[in-house]
Amino acid sequence: MKNVFLIGFMGVGKTTFGKKLAAALGLEFVDMDEAIELMEKKTVSEIFESMGEARFRELEQHWLKNFEQHGKLVATGGGAPCFGNALELMNDKGITIYLQRPAAELTHRLFHAQKKRPLLKDRSKDELLAYVSDVLRQRELFYEQADIILDRNQQTVEQAKKSLSTLKKK
Ligand code: S3P
Repeated sequence: MKNVFLIGFMGVGKTTFGKKLAAALGLEFVDMDEAIELMEKKTVSEIFESMGEARFRELEQHWLKNFEQHGKLVATGGGAPCFGNALELMNDKGITIYLQRPAAELTHRLFHAQKKRPLLKDRSKDELLAYVSDVLRQRELFYEQADIILDRNQQTVEQAKKSLSTLKKK
């Protein structure tokens, strides 16, 4: 298998599930945000603060365009597939899996994890729910173009393996 790209909203569990799935598939786990932080020698928050979101999106695209590795499972940033031709690049370089969860559940999971996420900082729970619902609606247009979609009840290693095995594209 070339690569697997896990896509989905912030807080859906791309890192936690990604690490488990990578181990089960014998792939090496890569965290895209961490790779960009290493490349820029700045945290994602620092990049947003000093260079703005538009520059961060350019960095995501640049990283993906230059990604020539194989046998990796990449946990992508929540916005990564929704800008430029990033999703096309991912679909080209591997298999994309969308981890789906309802906005209310994402909000609950994110409420205590806003600090390292510059887009969420300092929002009350109501504001966060409005933001997540709105942005999720826009992003699903991209997320739903993934090769495989796993809803909240299907996010198990067994189900992911089953979906991968029935997928024609390899
Ligand atoms: C973002 C998600 C973050 C990170 C950045 C922007 C987004 O990644 O890339 O803060 O636009 O949804 P996670 O999904 O890993 O939190």
